[in-house]
Amino acid sequence: MSKPSVYVTRMIPADCIAALREHFDVDVNPDDRALTHEDLKQQVRGRDAVISLLTDRIDGEVLDAAGRQCKIVANYAVGFNNFDIDAATARNVILTNTPGVLDDATATLTFTLLLATARRIGESERFVRQGEWQGWAPMAFVGLDVDRRTLGIAGLGRIGKNVARKAAGFDMKIIYSDVRRDLDFEASFNAVYVDKPTLLAQSDFLTLHVPLLPETKHYIGAAELRQMKKTAVLINASRGPVVDEAALVEALREKIIWGAGLDVFEEEPALAPGLAALDNVVIVPHIASATTETRLKMGEIAVRNIVNVLAGKAPDTCVNPEVLRQISRDF
Ligand code: DGY
Repeated sequence: MSKPSVYVTRMIPADCIAALREHFDVDVNPDDRALTHEDLKQQVRGRDAVISLLTDRIDGEVLDAAGRQCKIVANYAVGFNNFDIDAATARNVILTNTPGVLDDATATLTFTLLLATARRIGESERFVRQGEWQGWAPMAFVGLDVDRRTLGIAGLGRIGKNVARKAAGFDMKIIYSDVRRDLDFEASFNAVYVDKPTLLAQSDFLTLHVPLLPETKHYIGAAELRQMKKTAVLINASRGPVVDEAALVEALREKIIWGAGLDVFEEEPALAPGLAALDNVVIVPHIASATTETRLKMGEIAVRNIVNVLAGKAPDTCVNPEVLRQISRDF
């Protein structure tokens, strides 16, 4: 009997592919580039399972192209705004993500951006490499203090909390905003729950950890940027469209806020016009989860979910659990 067929839309750690091959016939996109939507539809045809990336739009067209035998699309990411959840649920396709294993790496990168922006690491490094350094100078690259400053956290999920743990080492005062209050968190971190206007007005460093939803698109726009301190720094390692990038470029150019550290962008890999020319922004290419161990663990979750689902069992993680209830299996 032939083995179930699994498609992986781009190379992930080789150990994960090897683990898949123990159970399935596996094809991997041989090119180190994201597939076009058309290519994706071609490649998923007849597959029983797919490992997708956040760059792959998994919508009704893709699922119809895959066919009714396709049981699961496992995202190699914790974020899943690339999924059309309703389309998958209507077709009884299980969608999974990789929560939990990338909190440390993502919070570390968030804090790296915070420190790099405050201490002007990007521009001072460029200055040295370009051979412009003439020696120690009292007024060169003077930045911001981080210790004992106020850190605002928008979205208190696992990653937001992990950032708070790192901030504790700098004695930062924590304020946060979320749809829910977390009294245990407040007690552990001496943190204060605030509304959005207070978060904007009081944060010295504001870090975004909300998921991308219709309600969080442009959570930070021109009006919000004007409510922030002139000395404030904005950090975004969540999803690009949470920030109105054109408004941010304007605010950085006009010194409405002091700086920004960005891992994510509205139209990746394109940057908003003018962004790359600004010195008061640190820009990295969506690398928050990019550590060897984290990327391996993300793959392990995706593989385990596929093995379980194709064996008729429940996946460890599922973003459309209605499907688990809908389908008549012994979950
Ligand atoms: C995610 O997992 O959602 C990150 O953005 C990429 O690792």
